Amino acid sequence: MNTSANRSTPLNLPNPPVMLAPLAGITDLPFRKLVSKFGAGRVVSEMVASQELLSSRPGTREKAELGAEVENTAVQLAGRDPEWMAEAARQVADMGAKIIDINMGCPAKKVTSGYSGSALMRDLDHALKLIDAVVEAVNLPVTLKTRLGWDENLLNAPELAVRAEQAGVQQIVIHGRTRCQFYKGAADWSAIGRVKNAVNIPVIANGDITDAQTARNALDQSGADGVMIGRGAQGRPWVLAEVAHGIYGDQSAIGAPDVPSGADLCDLVSGHFEDMLAFYGCPLGGRVARKHLGWYMDFAQTPAALRREVLTADPSVVLSLLPLALQQHQEAA
Ligand SMILES: Cc1cc2nc3c(=O)[nH]c(=O)nc-3n(C[C@H](O)[C@H](O)[C@H](O)COP(=O)(O)O)c2cc1C
Repeated sequence: MNTSANRSTPLNLPNPPVMLAPLAGITDLPFRKLVSKFGAGRVVSEMVASQELLSSRPGTREKAELGAEVENTAVQLAGRDPEWMAEAARQVADMGAKIIDINMGCPAKKVTSGYSGSALMRDLDHALKLIDAVVEAVNLPVTLKTRLGWDENLLNAPELAVRAEQAGVQQIVIHGRTRCQFYKGAADWSAIGRVKNAVNIPVIANGDITDAQTARNALDQSGADGVMIGRGAQGRPWVLAEVAHGIYGDQSAIGAPDVPSGADLCDLVSGHFEDMLAFYGCPLGGRVARKHLGWYMDFAQTPAALRREVLTADPSVVLSLLPLALQQHQEAA
């Protein structure tokens, strides 16, 4: 066992154990703040490439934008070089990070071809060097997010989890797919149970959880200690609070959310839109906002013509279109 594990601040399972997944390009600081306002056990930053953080190449997110210091936030690092990962961990710790999460699940070719993300599942010895380097570098709790394995012939998440626990990792999220599945098929929640049975640290189930019922099924099938929700929160930032209330009821530190509709939904979306413009500036903020607006309009079942109008409008007129676009259109449909 890595002795540095003993120096790390212990990490409790959050109450409720319902977490927001990192989604690069989506779960930015404005979105995480919105989700946290409704309530979330924990949120995770978008993946930060350790090499880019250190070199601060153009296009790298400004460090202040990371929100490392925000309560209940884990900062996720990706990379392939133990020294870069250790140095990046030290930097985000200096920025006030409370938890560091290591990404060993990203399937994107540009990440795996650099032997980062889920490619590390093909070389557990190297994966462990990264984990050791990060755990050694900081006193913060270190967590890991990964998949079931590389492909159906290499389902080695339980082995990785055991070795990670020995190295001092305090929690593991498993997305119930292999790397080679990317996002195809259905997440295999029962396979997450093999990781749960292999370790003593909390295991969090992830993949295709979108509401209290799917969360319950994932927990029942995996025996996991909590759930992580990604795409299910798109356009529905209150969904973690709904799931937490549905699963944990009065034991959840989060009450049932008031799911907004009509004018309340319009206020929420307008506020989110303005936050994105302020955060990114124009025109980038307008472009980033489009996908969120699209998801909100999916939720509100906005008619296609109106939806197109909003998504092609200049940012300066979007706010004036939202009241009509976000009226509940279900009855009319
Ligand atoms: C657009 C997109 C971006 C993602 N970015 C990250 C990331 O930065 N780090 C990470 O660990 N996983 C990332 N993921 C994977 C998700 O965190 C999650 O594991 C996956 O979407 C399955 O969960 P879900 O079905 O609840 O979305 C991303 C997924 C998507 C679709």
